[in-house]
Order: sequence, then structure tokens, then C-alpha cells
Amino acid sequence: MAIEQTFSIIKPDAVERNLIGAINARLEAAGFVIVGMRLIQMTVEQAQNFYAEHDGKPFFDSLVEYMTSGPVVVQVLQAENAIAKYREILGATNPENAAAGTIRHDFAISMSKNSAHGSDSPASAEREIACFFGESKIFTR
Ligand code: TYD
Ligand code: MG
Repeated sequence: MAIEQTFSIIKPDAVERNLIGAINARLEAAGFVIVGMRLIQMTVEQAQNFYAEHDGKPFFDSLVEYMTSGPVVVQVLQAENAIAKYREILGATNPENAAAGTIRHDFAISMSKNSAHGSDSPASAEREIACFFGESKIFTR
């Protein structure tokens, strides 16, 4: 399988509860290399653009409001099969459906406050990384 990069966000609920280290420890233990990382607060425009695929859905406005409500960690993770592998470790969108041992099962508060984001496909990963990282900010190895 190929080495890939995927895009991750540690969401406001997890940052607020001091879970950055706990989440990153799991990612590193699973073999991901963090090749890009920043703590930022998204603007409304950034969040709307990032989640453009959900524009018009009933949860869109509250999603944007939530994602801009406090600092988040944006990350680029590198590993073999990184995109699918991270989605597996992340768990289902609704933590009630997330498998035991996944990040969302163990840390999420609710469907909206579900602690972390991971790209769902190679095309999404490429688009999402470009939303927050220029090439010079990624430390490939
Ligand atoms: P989605 O891309 O479907 O999930 P995932 O994050 O697993 O890729 O949705 C994006 C985020 O929107 C999701 O993490 C939480 C929020 N959301 C809701 O608040 N309500 C919903 O009904 C859905 C589907 C998502
Ligand atoms: Mg998604």
C-alpha cells in the first residue's frame, strides 16, 4: 500500500478538554507521522469553505458556528494507507455508533462535538490539506 497524507482536525471540544496530547499519542502509536501541525481559530469563511460539501444541510450553520467557536489543531498525518486508516481509528461520525477503542467512541461528547475530523478520500485529503497548509509547511519524511 502507498504512503499517503491525510488531513486531521482536533476539534474545539477536544482542545478545550486538554485532549490534544491523548489524541496525538494514539496517532503516533498507530504509526502516523505528524508532518504538519498548527493551533488556529478558523474564521467563518474558512469553516464554510472547508465544509462546503455540507452547505445547505440542516446542520451546516451550527457546524460552522461550532468549528469557529474556539481553537482547533489542524494537522497533516502521513502513513501507509493514511486516509482509510485514520477514518478507522477515528470511528463513526455519531459516537453512539463508533466502535470501542476509536477516538470518537472514547472522547466525543455528541454527533456535533465529535472531537476530531479525518479526510474521507484521497480527493478530500488533497483539498483539505490545501485549505490550511502550503507545501512549504509540510515536513515530509
Ligand atoms: P460528515 O462529513 O458527514 O462526517 P465526518 O466528520 O465523519 O466526515 O459531517 C461533518 C461533521 O458535521 C460531523 O463530523 C459532525 C457534523 N454533523 C452534524 O452535526 N450532524 C449531522 O447530522 C451530520 C451528518 C454531521
Ligand atoms: Mg466528512
